[in-house]
Amino acid sequence: MKESSTPNNRRKFLQQLLTGSMATLAMPMLGASGEPRQSLVAGDASDERYWEMVKKQFAVPPKLMMMNAANLCPSPYSINELVTETLQHLGQDVSFQYRHQFADKRGMAIEKMSQFVGVGKEEIGIVRNTTEGNSIIVNGLDLKAGDEIILWDQNHASNNIAWEQRARRYGFTIKKITVPASPQSVEELLTPFTKAITPKTRLISFSHVSNTSGIALPAKEICRYARTKNVLTLVDGAQSLGMIDLNLKDMGCDFYTASTHKWLLGPYENGVVYISREQLDKIWPTVISAGWKDTGKTVDEKLCVLGQRNETTPFALPETIDFQLSVGKKVIEERVRKLTAYLKDQIRTKIPQATFVSPLPAELSAGIVIFNLPGKTPAETYQKLYDVYGIACAATGGIRLSPHIYNTLEDIDRLVTALGSLAA
Ligand SMILES: Cc1ncc(COP(=O)(O)O)c(C=O)c1O
Repeated sequence: MKESSTPNNRRKFLQQLLTGSMATLAMPMLGASGEPRQSLVAGDASDERYWEMVKKQFAVPPKLMMMNAANLCPSPYSINELVTETLQHLGQDVSFQYRHQFADKRGMAIEKMSQFVGVGKEEIGIVRNTTEGNSIIVNGLDLKAGDEIILWDQNHASNNIAWEQRARRYGFTIKKITVPASPQSVEELLTPFTKAITPKTRLISFSHVSNTSGIALPAKEICRYARTKNVLTLVDGAQSLGMIDLNLKDMGCDFYTASTHKWLLGPYENGVVYISREQLDKIWPTVISAGWKDTGKTVDEKLCVLGQRNETTPFALPETIDFQLSVGKKVIEERVRKLTAYLKDQIRTKIPQATFVSPLPAELSAGIVIFNLPGKTPAETYQKLYDVYGIACAATGGIRLSPHIYNTLEDIDRLVTALGSLAA
């Protein structure tokens, strides 16, 4: 084994990368704008200069602007480099001995993630994405003809279509809930769910935040009401983990799923599934591979033994969570809310002909702003934003913009100016 590949040396090198302390290297590392890289340091979140420094933790070059956190986020340099370095070292040494560290790191990732979302470590499993987490619940729960489940019609395909396929096979009933298109109160979002519950209802499955409208459902109110009726809840958190300051015990859901490559800013193709300890024995494993034991007592042991994975992605999860915590969960949520509120406000005042799909009241949405421009298809605007202005967004439910902490208020100004030109 090469000296630099020994676990101790490697750990030291990675620590240097993570702390940004590259003093031992001769050349300073340059950031996306060509200036020497700056480490993340604590600062005043009400000062825009703090967010300029946060932005410099990411490799997005100045000519590009990422406004698509709802789909995929760039990771900070430290995480990208950790994944890349780990992959390079793995290419040099794929022995069981070298890979032993991956199991330790997975344990650490589970522990950190459980603290991050306020649950027990035995209640967290590592999967590849939200889709896989959803399928673990969809295919693992015993349901039969006569049972009923409630779905939100705005759920992602990995939730609704997966349940529909399962219902076709096993004969249970699906009730789909619609909420008002322009809700004005939390009550209007809650009531359709509570009213749909009957004595046959076994589960409600919903996206915490819709990727097609930006509506944020009152997850805690839905989950807590469902529990009083003995109804289970699956919250699809693809659009909330890493953006909303979450505590799953407080929310009161039974199951929660999310990807780490979206708002968490973490490694690509990685996700988490939460199953409350009270419900674990109700979920059958869908995938079983070598290492699975009937005696598995945790979510990860029982449901997440998925065969050989690219272990370099979960490897970076503890550092991803550390990065989030060093900015602060609450600070991140407040920042994203500030960016989206400013974005809505600027669109309303500078492009008055724009029509919003996302609710304007802050408490009814989170992180995602969707709107339409009269006479333009969302696909056309989405493509021009990228081709002409280097701005990445989505054409999902309208023109979908989802800023994150690597964006600044100045970015929003640039974006709205670009949109104004395209709308003219
Ligand atoms: C609400 C919701 N659920 C699930 C997913 C699927 O995420 P992934 O492709 O990471 O599994 C998405 C993706 O955008 C989503 O928005």
